[in-house]
Amino acid sequence: SVFDNPNAASLSVAHRIANLIKKKQEQNEMAVLGLATGATPIAVYAELVRLHKEEGLSFKNVITFNLDEYYPMLPTAAQSYVTFMNENLFDHIDIDRKNVNIPDGTLSLEEIPAFCLEYEKKIGQLGGLDIQILGIGRTGHIGFNEPGSAPNSGTRLVTLDDLTRRDAARDFGGKSFVPTKAITMGIGTIFKAREIILMAWNRKKASIIKKAVEGEISSEVPATYLQLSDNVEFILDKEAASDL
Ligand code: GLP
Repeated sequence: SVFDNPNAASLSVAHRIANLIKKKQEQNEMAVLGLATGATPIAVYAELVRLHKEEGLSFKNVITFNLDEYYPMLPTAAQSYVTFMNENLFDHIDIDRKNVNIPDGTLSLEEIPAFCLEYEKKIGQLGGLDIQILGIGRTGHIGFNEPGSAPNSGTRLVTLDDLTRRDAARDFGGKSFVPTKAITMGIGTIFKAREIILMAWNRKKASIIKKAVEGEISSEVPATYLQLSDNVEFILDKEAASDL
């Protein structure tokens, strides 16, 4: 769907998430959410916080799995995705912290494979992700699945693309300070979600959105794999959709 502006689009995504949470509450079940970072979902999180504060939406029955984290990365660092999620969402809602899962940027290299398997296993044991929200990087990455990622890839350590590190340079005070690696859910992990919502706003995402939606399916643009799933919806503003 194409919305007039990012705010209208964000509200619609937030309300879908809120409706899922409420439906699960009625059924006495947990809602299992796959969450994303970056500028794109900020207004979605802001609306969820507003629904909590002003309309009493509870997150007690919510379990979250974030897509990715830089590696190495201390959770307390200003640029960590832990900090991002705390500031934009978790510090302002009533979620139980033990239900929050974010890849751990403090592990040793040897510990990463077991951690990644456990991340997948945890999602599986909960019955899978109900909704996964996604942004898109200018390399066509989803999560941090950079060009070259396999369609059946799982949670793993990856090397960041140079363009991704350049785009992150502002947050880190220079590209040389951006970690070269990250831990990310895989394309295969994302694909198992019952509902996938990819959001993109602004003119600068128009060309990668055109490739993702209309381009040949290829590991060169990992977001093109989404064309293979029936559970994917692209939520765009007019500008991001302007090349379609
Ligand atoms: C980062 C994140 C992605 C995100 C992308 C786009 O690389 N790992 O999950 O989709 O940036 O970021 P933004 O939403 O700021 O454009």
